Amino acid sequence: MIHAHDIRVRVTAIEEVAPRTKRFRLQAVDSSHLPQFAGGAHITVALGDDDGALRNPYTLSGSPQDRVGYEITVLRAADSRGGSAFLHEQVVLGQEVSISAPINLFPINALGRRHVLLAGGIGITPFMPITEQLIDLSQKFELHYAMRSDGAAPYETLLRSRLGHRLHVYRSDLRERINLESLLEGQPLGTHLYVCGPERLIDGAINAGKALGWPGENIHFERFAGPPPGDPFEVRLAKSSKAIAVGQHQTLLEALERAGVEPPSLCRGGACGQCEIPVIKADGELLHYDHFLSEEARSSGRSIMTCVSRFKGRELVLDF
Ligand code: FES
Repeated sequence: MIHAHDIRVRVTAIEEVAPRTKRFRLQAVDSSHLPQFAGGAHITVALGDDDGALRNPYTLSGSPQDRVGYEITVLRAADSRGGSAFLHEQVVLGQEVSISAPINLFPINALGRRHVLLAGGIGITPFMPITEQLIDLSQKFELHYAMRSDGAAPYETLLRSRLGHRLHVYRSDLRERINLESLLEGQPLGTHLYVCGPERLIDGAINAGKALGWPGENIHFERFAGPPPGDPFEVRLAKSSKAIAVGQHQTLLEALERAGVEPPSLCRGGACGQCEIPVIKADGELLHYDHFLSEEARSSGRSIMTCVSRFKGRELVLDF
């Protein structure tokens, strides 16, 4: 669904930057400058044949100095519910799509004394603008990039020339692994850690940081797991008495938007908490896939994060 504040853009370049990974350049249809962003920001792209029925978040991977076009780098997910498959297989040069303005839930802390960046695979995307920004700000940093093999990960060559000794590459085909404990141990006070990649890398870094006594506010992470598909279900909105069907490959949030309801949302990845809606009745099981609610909040069944979580059962009524 297209939102009122969406920006209409045209795809002006498509390039394969690694196996199953394409970079898309997007420029405003009216040639105007796009809103400024800082490293770590993402946009939401309206996708699908059906009037942009899917809205997926993608991290901006281009330069923050570039106001003429945004770049996103998209891995064709093996279990794509439609977003990455649509971008890889249906989107062509010159095509118009709608995007949101940038939102940044993964910014660098400019007061950090030093910055340790950890990327796994496609999780490199936010670090493309972030490293450029850190260089511009003359900040001290190091980037640790875990990948399957040489040539399998995007931007390795570019990063080697841009970062030199500040880049450390780990190839799983050579059994190279990031030793998180020794990496985080001994970093100067005031160092900030940023992680983007698979869950096990993020969880490993958070646990290692905590075990070494790092303050929680110095550990930043971005999870990019997409919402899982599931059985279709129906939801009723108590305030409007609307009954809305949620399809197998659709999120609850997308179904609400499609029905003309615009609940709040930011990350669309179960991390920020913006899309939380109180549950009035759930005759069945709430399937919580977010990273926001505590275990206690989940088991209370008092609310649901509409961007990723689902429902299995007879009746779901939301206080909305
Ligand atoms: S929009 Fe961020 S948790 Fe749902």
